[in-house]
Amino acid sequence: AIKLVTTVAGLHAESARLLAEKQGASQGLVPTMGALHEGHAALARTAVEQNDVVVASIFVNPLQFGDAVDLDRYPRTLDADLALLDAQGVGIAFAPSVEEVYPGGEPLVRVTSGRLGEKWEGTSRPGHFDGALTVVAKLLHYGIPAAGRAGGAGLPAYRAYFGQKDAQQLALVRRMVADLNFPVDIVGVPTVRSAEGLALSSRNRFLSDDERGAALVLSRALRLLEERATAHEPLDLDSALAMVESQPLVKLDYFDVVDPATLEPLAENCRETPFRGEALALIAAKVGPVRLIDNAPLSS
Ligand code: PAJ
Repeated sequence: AIKLVTTVAGLHAESARLLAEKQGASQGLVPTMGALHEGHAALARTAVEQNDVVVASIFVNPLQFGDAVDLDRYPRTLDADLALLDAQGVGIAFAPSVEEVYPGGEPLVRVTSGRLGEKWEGTSRPGHFDGALTVVAKLLHYGIPAAGRAGGAGLPAYRAYFGQKDAQQLALVRRMVADLNFPVDIVGVPTVRSAEGLALSSRNRFLSDDERGAALVLSRALRLLEERATAHEPLDLDSALAMVESQPLVKLDYFDVVDPATLEPLAENCRETPFRGEALALIAAKVGPVRLIDNAPLSS
Protein backbone atom coordinates (compact mmCIF):
# COMPACT_ATOMS: atom_id res chain seq x y z
CA ALA A 1 0.00 0.00 0.00
CA ILE A 2 1.04 3.59 -0.61
CA LYS A 3 2.88 5.34 2.22
CA LEU A 4 2.05 8.97 2.99
CA VAL A 5 4.93 11.16 4.19
CA THR A 6 4.73 14.87 4.96
CA THR A 7 8.35 15.80 5.71
CA VAL A 8 11.49 15.77 3.59
CA ALA A 9 13.20 13.60 6.23
CA GLY A 10 10.29 11.16 6.07
CA LEU A 11 10.51 11.07 2.28
CA HIS A 12 14.24 10.29 2.34
CA ALA A 13 13.81 7.58 4.99
CA GLU A 14 10.96 5.88 3.12
CA SER A 15 12.71 6.13 -0.25
CA ALA A 16 15.91 4.62 1.24
CA ARG A 17 13.91 1.81 2.86
CA LEU A 18 12.05 0.93 -0.37
CA LEU A 19 15.17 1.14 -2.55
CA ALA A 20 17.01 -1.21 -0.16
CA GLU A 21 14.04 -3.60 0.08
CA LYS A 22 13.60 -3.79 -3.70
CA GLN A 23 17.34 -3.56 -4.48
CA GLY A 24 16.08 -0.63 -6.48
CA ALA A 25 18.00 0.51 -9.51
CA SER A 26 15.77 3.46 -10.30
CA GLN A 27 13.48 6.04 -8.76
CA GLY A 28 10.76 8.08 -10.46
CA LEU A 29 9.23 11.36 -9.26
CA VAL A 30 5.78 12.62 -10.29
CA PRO A 31 5.23 16.23 -9.14
CA THR A 32 1.56 17.29 -8.81
CA MET A 33 -0.65 19.80 -7.05
CA GLY A 34 -3.26 17.16 -6.22
CA ALA A 35 -6.91 17.14 -7.37
CA LEU A 36 -5.71 14.22 -9.40
CA HIS A 37 -7.42 12.93 -12.55
CA GLU A 38 -6.65 10.46 -15.35
CA GLY A 39 -3.93 12.78 -16.72
CA HIS A 40 -1.98 12.50 -13.49
CA ALA A 41 -2.75 8.77 -13.41
CA ALA A 42 -1.03 8.38 -16.79
CA LEU A 43 2.10 10.07 -15.41
CA ALA A 44 2.05 7.81 -12.35
CA ARG A 45 1.49 4.67 -14.43
CA THR A 46 4.36 5.53 -16.78
CA ALA A 47 6.63 6.16 -13.80
CA VAL A 48 5.63 2.85 -12.18
CA GLU A 49 6.35 0.98 -15.43
CA GLN A 50 9.81 2.53 -15.72
CA ASN A 51 11.08 2.59 -12.11
CA ASP A 52 11.52 0.38 -9.06
CA VAL A 53 10.42 3.09 -6.62
CA VAL A 54 7.99 5.90 -7.43
CA VAL A 55 7.33 9.05 -5.40
CA ALA A 56 4.38 11.31 -6.23
CA SER A 57 4.36 14.74 -4.64
CA ILE A 58 1.17 16.61 -3.82
CA PHE A 59 1.81 20.26 -3.06
CA VAL A 60 -0.25 23.32 -3.98
CA ASN A 61 2.62 25.74 -4.49
CA PRO A 62 1.67 29.30 -3.40
CA LEU A 63 4.65 30.73 -5.32
CA GLN A 64 3.13 29.97 -8.72
CA PHE A 65 -0.32 31.48 -8.12
CA GLY A 66 -0.96 35.05 -9.24
CA ASP A 67 -3.72 35.81 -6.77
CA ALA A 68 -4.78 34.53 -3.39
CA VAL A 69 -8.34 33.75 -4.54
CA ASP A 70 -7.17 31.31 -7.20
CA LEU A 71 -4.86 29.70 -4.62
CA ASP A 72 -7.65 29.40 -2.05
CA ARG A 73 -10.15 27.84 -4.40
CA TYR A 74 -7.65 25.34 -5.86
CA PRO A 75 -9.31 21.96 -5.18
CA ARG A 76 -7.82 19.83 -2.38
CA THR A 77 -8.83 16.15 -2.41
CA LEU A 78 -6.07 14.28 -0.53
CA ASP A 79 -7.94 11.04 0.25
CA ALA A 80 -9.09 10.53 -3.34
CA ASP A 81 -5.59 11.47 -4.57
CA LEU A 82 -3.96 8.81 -2.37
CA ALA A 83 -6.43 6.19 -3.62
CA LEU A 84 -5.70 7.10 -7.27
CA LEU A 85 -1.92 6.95 -6.75
CA ASP A 86 -2.18 3.68 -4.81
CA ALA A 87 -4.21 2.15 -7.66
CA GLN A 88 -1.38 2.98 -10.10
CA GLY A 89 1.20 1.30 -7.85
CA VAL A 90 2.92 4.44 -6.53
CA GLY A 91 4.90 3.60 -3.37
CA ILE A 92 5.27 6.98 -1.69
CA ALA A 93 3.05 10.07 -1.60
CA PHE A 94 4.89 13.17 -0.41
CA ALA A 95 2.41 15.83 0.74
CA PRO A 96 4.39 18.49 2.64
CA SER A 97 3.00 21.64 4.29
CA VAL A 98 3.86 25.10 2.98
CA GLU A 99 6.15 25.54 6.04
CA GLU A 100 8.01 22.32 5.22
CA VAL A 101 8.77 23.51 1.68
CA TYR A 102 9.30 27.20 2.52
CA PRO A 103 10.61 27.38 6.09
CA GLY A 104 11.07 31.06 6.86
CA GLY A 105 8.51 32.12 4.28
CA GLU A 106 8.93 32.94 0.62
CA PRO A 107 12.44 32.25 -0.67
CA LEU A 108 14.60 35.27 -1.45
CA VAL A 109 16.41 33.43 -4.23
CA ARG A 110 14.33 31.90 -7.01
CA VAL A 111 14.84 30.22 -10.33
CA THR A 112 14.09 32.65 -13.14
CA SER A 113 12.46 31.26 -16.23
CA GLY A 114 13.97 33.98 -18.40
CA ARG A 115 12.71 34.76 -21.90
CA LEU A 116 11.16 31.31 -22.33
CA GLY A 117 8.94 32.00 -19.32
CA GLU A 118 7.81 35.46 -20.41
CA LYS A 119 5.98 34.49 -23.58
CA TRP A 120 2.62 32.68 -24.09
CA GLU A 121 1.36 31.70 -20.61
CA GLY A 122 3.90 34.04 -19.05
CA THR A 123 2.25 37.09 -20.62
CA SER A 124 -1.01 36.63 -18.72
CA ARG A 125 0.54 35.03 -15.62
CA PRO A 126 3.58 37.12 -14.66
CA GLY A 127 5.83 35.30 -12.17
CA HIS A 128 4.00 32.01 -12.64
CA PHE A 129 6.85 30.10 -14.23
CA ASP A 130 9.47 31.47 -11.82
CA GLY A 131 7.31 30.12 -9.00
CA ALA A 132 6.71 26.80 -10.73
CA LEU A 133 10.39 26.28 -11.64
CA THR A 134 11.50 27.21 -8.12
CA VAL A 135 9.32 24.52 -6.57
CA VAL A 136 10.17 22.00 -9.30
CA ALA A 137 13.87 22.59 -8.55
CA LYS A 138 13.21 21.87 -4.86
CA LEU A 139 11.06 18.80 -5.60
CA LEU A 140 13.66 17.40 -8.01
CA HIS A 141 16.25 17.72 -5.24
CA TYR A 142 14.02 16.14 -2.59
CA GLY A 143 13.45 13.17 -4.93
CA ILE A 144 17.11 12.29 -5.63
CA PRO A 145 17.33 8.58 -4.72
CA ALA A 146 18.99 7.62 -1.45
CA ALA A 147 22.13 5.91 -2.76
CA GLY A 148 22.66 9.01 -4.88
CA ARG A 149 22.67 11.18 -1.78
CA ALA A 150 25.12 8.82 -0.08
CA GLY A 151 27.35 8.93 -3.17
CA GLY A 152 27.61 5.14 -3.31
CA ALA A 153 28.58 3.04 -6.31
CA GLY A 154 25.91 2.04 -8.81
CA LEU A 155 23.77 5.13 -8.42
CA PRO A 156 20.09 4.49 -9.06
CA ALA A 157 18.68 6.07 -12.22
CA TYR A 158 16.47 9.07 -11.48
CA ARG A 159 13.59 10.20 -13.70
CA ALA A 160 10.86 12.81 -13.32
CA TYR A 161 7.55 12.86 -15.18
CA PHE A 162 5.73 15.87 -16.63
CA GLY A 163 2.66 16.18 -18.86
CA GLN A 164 2.82 17.39 -22.43
CA LYS A 165 -0.47 19.14 -21.53
CA ASP A 166 1.58 21.95 -19.97
CA ALA A 167 3.93 22.25 -22.92
CA GLN A 168 5.60 25.48 -21.83
CA GLN A 169 6.20 24.15 -18.32
CA LEU A 170 7.70 20.96 -19.80
CA ALA A 171 9.96 22.96 -22.14
CA LEU A 172 11.09 25.14 -19.21
CA VAL A 173 11.78 22.16 -16.93
CA ARG A 174 13.83 20.52 -19.69
CA ARG A 175 15.84 23.73 -20.12
CA MET A 176 16.36 24.19 -16.37
CA VAL A 177 17.59 20.61 -16.00
CA ALA A 178 19.90 20.92 -19.02
CA ASP A 179 21.14 24.46 -18.36
CA LEU A 180 21.69 23.95 -14.61
CA ASN A 181 22.86 20.29 -14.74
CA PHE A 182 20.24 18.64 -12.56
CA PRO A 183 21.00 14.89 -12.16
CA VAL A 184 17.63 13.69 -13.48
CA ASP A 185 16.08 12.56 -16.77
CA ILE A 186 12.89 14.40 -17.70
CA VAL A 187 10.16 12.27 -19.29
CA GLY A 188 7.25 13.94 -21.12
CA VAL A 189 3.89 12.11 -21.09
CA PRO A 190 1.23 12.66 -23.82
CA THR A 191 -1.92 14.62 -22.96
CA VAL A 192 -4.88 12.61 -21.66
CA ARG A 193 -8.28 13.78 -22.98
CA SER A 194 -11.96 13.16 -22.34
CA ALA A 195 -13.77 10.99 -24.89
CA GLU A 196 -14.85 14.22 -26.69
CA GLY A 197 -11.29 15.56 -26.81
CA LEU A 198 -11.14 18.05 -23.92
CA ALA A 199 -7.69 17.95 -22.30
CA LEU A 200 -8.21 16.87 -18.69
CA SER A 201 -7.47 19.58 -16.14
CA SER A 202 -8.23 20.05 -12.45
CA ARG A 203 -9.93 23.33 -13.40
CA ASN A 204 -12.43 21.72 -15.81
CA ARG A 205 -14.74 21.13 -12.83
CA PHE A 206 -15.48 24.88 -12.82
CA LEU A 207 -17.02 24.71 -16.35
CA SER A 208 -20.81 24.60 -16.85
CA ASP A 209 -22.19 22.04 -19.31
CA ASP A 210 -22.48 24.70 -22.04
CA GLU A 211 -18.96 25.94 -21.41
CA ARG A 212 -17.60 22.41 -21.44
CA GLY A 213 -19.24 21.85 -24.84
CA ALA A 214 -17.86 25.13 -26.16
CA ALA A 215 -14.37 24.30 -24.90
CA LEU A 216 -14.20 21.35 -27.29
CA VAL A 217 -13.44 23.79 -30.10
CA LEU A 218 -9.88 24.08 -28.78
CA SER A 219 -9.00 20.44 -29.36
CA ARG A 220 -10.97 20.43 -32.64
CA ALA A 221 -8.92 23.33 -33.99
CA LEU A 222 -5.70 21.59 -32.90
CA ARG A 223 -6.80 18.40 -34.60
CA LEU A 224 -7.35 20.31 -37.85
CA LEU A 225 -3.71 21.42 -37.76
CA GLU A 226 -2.52 17.92 -36.85
CA GLU A 227 -4.31 16.50 -39.86
CA ARG A 228 -2.77 19.15 -42.15
CA ALA A 229 0.69 18.43 -40.75
CA THR A 230 0.52 14.65 -41.12
CA ALA A 231 -0.81 15.08 -44.68
CA HIS A 232 2.19 17.37 -45.51
CA GLU A 233 -0.22 20.21 -46.29
CA PRO A 234 0.21 23.89 -45.39
CA LEU A 235 -1.00 24.47 -41.82
CA ASP A 236 -3.92 26.81 -42.61
CA LEU A 237 -3.92 28.51 -39.24
CA ASP A 238 -6.60 30.91 -40.49
CA SER A 239 -9.29 28.20 -40.83
CA ALA A 240 -8.39 26.80 -37.42
CA LEU A 241 -8.57 30.33 -35.96
CA ALA A 242 -11.96 30.97 -37.60
CA MET A 243 -13.25 27.76 -36.06
CA VAL A 244 -12.35 28.96 -32.55
CA GLU A 245 -13.67 32.47 -33.13
CA SER A 246 -17.06 31.12 -34.26
CA GLN A 247 -17.65 29.91 -30.69
CA PRO A 248 -18.98 32.89 -28.67
CA LEU A 249 -18.35 31.34 -25.22
CA VAL A 250 -14.63 31.03 -26.02
CA LYS A 251 -12.43 34.12 -25.60
CA LEU A 252 -9.24 33.28 -27.45
CA ASP A 253 -5.98 34.44 -25.89
CA TYR A 254 -3.38 33.00 -28.29
CA PHE A 255 -3.13 30.35 -30.98
CA ASP A 256 0.11 29.78 -32.87
CA VAL A 257 2.54 27.22 -34.20
CA VAL A 258 5.98 27.23 -32.59
CA ASP A 259 9.34 25.49 -32.39
CA PRO A 260 8.92 22.79 -29.67
CA ALA A 261 12.13 23.66 -27.83
CA THR A 262 12.34 27.46 -28.05
CA LEU A 263 8.57 28.14 -28.39
CA GLU A 264 9.40 30.79 -31.03
CA PRO A 265 6.72 31.06 -33.74
CA LEU A 266 7.47 29.24 -36.97
CA ALA A 267 8.14 31.32 -40.05
CA GLU A 268 4.98 32.64 -41.73
CA ASN A 269 5.55 30.40 -44.74
CA CYS A 270 4.39 27.31 -42.75
CA ARG A 271 0.92 28.54 -43.69
CA GLU A 272 1.61 28.37 -47.42
CA THR A 273 4.15 25.61 -47.94
CA PRO A 274 3.68 21.86 -47.31
CA PHE A 275 4.51 21.07 -43.67
CA ARG A 276 7.69 19.11 -42.90
CA GLY A 277 9.41 18.55 -39.56
CA GLU A 278 8.45 19.01 -35.93
CA ALA A 279 6.40 21.81 -34.39
CA LEU A 280 3.97 22.50 -31.59
CA ALA A 281 0.56 24.17 -31.92
CA LEU A 282 -0.28 26.17 -28.76
CA ILE A 283 -3.69 27.50 -27.79
CA ALA A 284 -5.08 29.32 -24.74
CA ALA A 285 -8.56 30.71 -24.15
CA LYS A 286 -10.88 31.81 -21.41
CA VAL A 287 -14.11 29.83 -21.24
CA GLY A 288 -16.47 31.17 -18.59
CA PRO A 289 -14.46 31.47 -15.37
CA VAL A 290 -11.67 29.18 -16.52
CA ARG A 291 -8.49 29.77 -18.47
CA LEU A 292 -7.82 26.69 -20.60
CA ILE A 293 -4.61 25.72 -22.36
CA ASP A 294 -4.04 22.95 -24.86
CA ASN A 295 -1.49 22.01 -27.49
CA ALA A 296 -0.66 19.44 -30.12
CA PRO A 297 2.70 18.18 -31.29
CA LEU A 298 2.84 18.42 -35.09
CA SER A 299 5.08 15.99 -36.90
CA SER A 300 5.53 14.81 -40.44
P1 PAJ B 1 -0.54 19.91 -11.87
O1 PAJ B 1 -1.36 20.91 -12.61
O2 PAJ B 1 -1.15 19.15 -10.74
O3 PAJ B 1 0.01 18.88 -12.92
C1 PAJ B 1 0.91 17.88 -12.53
C2 PAJ B 1 1.43 17.19 -13.77
O4 PAJ B 1 0.34 16.54 -14.44
C3 PAJ B 1 2.03 18.19 -14.77
O5 PAJ B 1 3.24 17.66 -15.29
C4 PAJ B 1 0.96 18.29 -15.83
O6 PAJ B 1 1.47 18.61 -17.12
C5 PAJ B 1 0.38 16.88 -15.81
N1 PAJ B 1 -0.96 16.86 -16.41
C6 PAJ B 1 -2.03 17.63 -16.06
N2 PAJ B 1 -3.09 17.36 -16.87
C7 PAJ B 1 -2.68 16.41 -17.74
C8 PAJ B 1 -3.30 15.72 -18.83
N3 PAJ B 1 -4.56 15.96 -19.19
N4 PAJ B 1 -2.57 14.80 -19.51
C9 PAJ B 1 -1.28 14.56 -19.16
N5 PAJ B 1 -0.64 15.17 -18.14
C10 PAJ B 1 -1.32 16.09 -17.45
O7 PAJ B 1 1.78 21.26 -13.23
C11 PAJ B 1 1.71 21.33 -12.01
O8 PAJ B 1 0.77 20.63 -11.27
C12 PAJ B 1 2.64 22.18 -11.18
O9 PAJ B 1 3.05 23.29 -11.95
C13 PAJ B 1 3.88 21.40 -10.68
C14 PAJ B 1 4.74 20.88 -11.82
C15 PAJ B 1 3.45 20.26 -9.76
C16 PAJ B 1 4.76 22.38 -9.83
O10 PAJ B 1 4.02 22.93 -8.79
